Amino acid sequence: MSMTEPVPEQRTDASRPPPPPRRLSRSLWPAISRRLRLLYFRARHVRARFGEGCDIRPGLSLNMGEDATVIFGSRCVLDRDMTVECSGSLEVGGGTIFGHHCTLAARESVVIGNDCLIAEMVSIRDHDHRFDLGLDTPVRDQGFDCRPVRIGSNVWLGCKVTVVKGISIGDNAVVGANSVVTHDVPANAVAVGAPARVVRYRVPPE
Ligand SMILES: CC(C)(COP(=O)(O)OP(=O)(O)OC[C@H]1O[C@@H](n2cnc3c(N)ncnc32)[C@H](O)[C@@H]1OP(=O)(O)O)[C@@H](O)C(=O)NCCC(=O)NCCS
Repeated sequence: MSMTEPVPEQRTDASRPPPPPRRLSRSLWPAISRRLRLLYFRARHVRARFGEGCDIRPGLSLNMGEDATVIFGSRCVLDRDMTVECSGSLEVGGGTIFGHHCTLAARESVVIGNDCLIAEMVSIRDHDHRFDLGLDTPVRDQGFDCRPVRIGSNVWLGCKVTVVKGISIGDNAVVGANSVVTHDVPANAVAVGAPARVVRYRVPPE
């Protein structure tokens, strides 16, 4: 800048116009829409229980049988396009997060603990179609083989994990992406693969 050019006027804080008021969409709207979605799902599925602060994203498909119990604890997140089918009992502890397109299917019992991280497209079912009644009966007409599934607290299931009937996964376990869990996973274990095998423990086993 040459010495002859005028020096631009310095504006002090006092001379600045006040900032515009924060827009509703940037501040309150996410919380309001979360609350409205929770109220909507509570009203629509009066027999299911969703705890305070649950964040139910669009596209949840919830099908409950007549005597089914469905309980999600407080502050659970059900990301978009999740499917829940329950003709038995499904209980999920508080603070557990489900990624998009997860499937939970309980004909008998599925229990998931607190503060789990269930990544996208995970499938957890407590039953299989039976296929032992011969070849003349279509598999779809052979009924179901059901065994309860138990998943502890603070468990992380990577994306696209499949948990089949009768499985227990202990607290703090981690299961790698794309794994198929066909055997129990102990507490604190890291298991990967199809079928999932324990590759190490997060802390040395006692
Ligand atoms: C399971 C996981 C956490 C392990 O990470 P890590 O502790 O860094 O483990 P490593 O990379 O050292 O892997 C240990 C062994 O398991 C194998 N492995 C790791 N993840 C695997 C998986 N998902 N499937 C099959 N094998 C796997 C590795 O190849 C390695 O085998 P090697 O010793 O023969 O080479 C990670 O691999 C994973 O799957 N993350 C999930 C990511 C995801 O889905 N995120 C969703 C967002 S919530």
